[in-house]
Amino acid sequence: MNSIDVCISPDLLHLYPLQGKIVVVVDVLRATSCMTTAFANGVKSIIAVATLEECMAYKNRGFLAAAERDGKTADGFDLGNSPFSYMDSSFKNKTLVVTTTNGTLAIAKSKEAEEILIGAFLNKTSLIKYLSEQNKDVLVLCSGWRGNFNMEDTLFAGSLVAGLEGILAHESDSSLMAKRLYLAARHNMMQFLEDSTHFKRLSRLNLYKDIEFCLTEDLYDILIAQREGELVVIS
Ligand code: MLT
Repeated sequence: MNSIDVCISPDLLHLYPLQGKIVVVVDVLRATSCMTTAFANGVKSIIAVATLEECMAYKNRGFLAAAERDGKTADGFDLGNSPFSYMDSSFKNKTLVVTTTNGTLAIAKSKEAEEILIGAFLNKTSLIKYLSEQNKDVLVLCSGWRGNFNMEDTLFAGSLVAGLEGILAHESDSSLMAKRLYLAARHNMMQFLEDSTHFKRLSRLNLYKDIEFCLTEDLYDILIAQREGELVVIS
């Protein structure tokens, strides 16, 4: 039986061999939730870059560019990292270049994987269905916060471990912890997370509605993967 494991921070990724594995990158608040929303609203592809400099270089070449640092839109950019910014029909069929504090760095660090998928509560069941059919080992990479553990990404990882019970085996403490955390929180994640660091950071920025939206399960039936350096919809 293939396995699923959970890496609670990109700073621990060196402990996990990626060859032959599917890596699901998750940054619930808010990078992967924004990406999922952007694709659900017609964006053609997303180029995820790790640095502001790379993103600005694309912007200067005329690309639609979004940049977030510490929860705020980065200086010099008009588009940040709120999912509501991506519900814009003018982005339809466009390529979007994005950099965020943690999520796009986690994608960049996963390049040795056989396949990189984008995970969010917004497209959770589509992801579970796809993973159940691949006969490959899976690693859920939590983007965390500047190398630190965060609860929301591990909650999502736990929802995948729980959803793939009996299909993908899990043996590590991180996957067991993630599953138990999700099973304890799933009926009221807002309350479960209300004292967590990024929840409080975003609330201080008056982004409470972003949090509520990003914790909504299965709003979109969409699957996003990296193909030749760009994120695209694969089903
Ligand atoms: C991240 O990269 O951790 C998030 O996208 C930050 C945010 O959007 O608040």
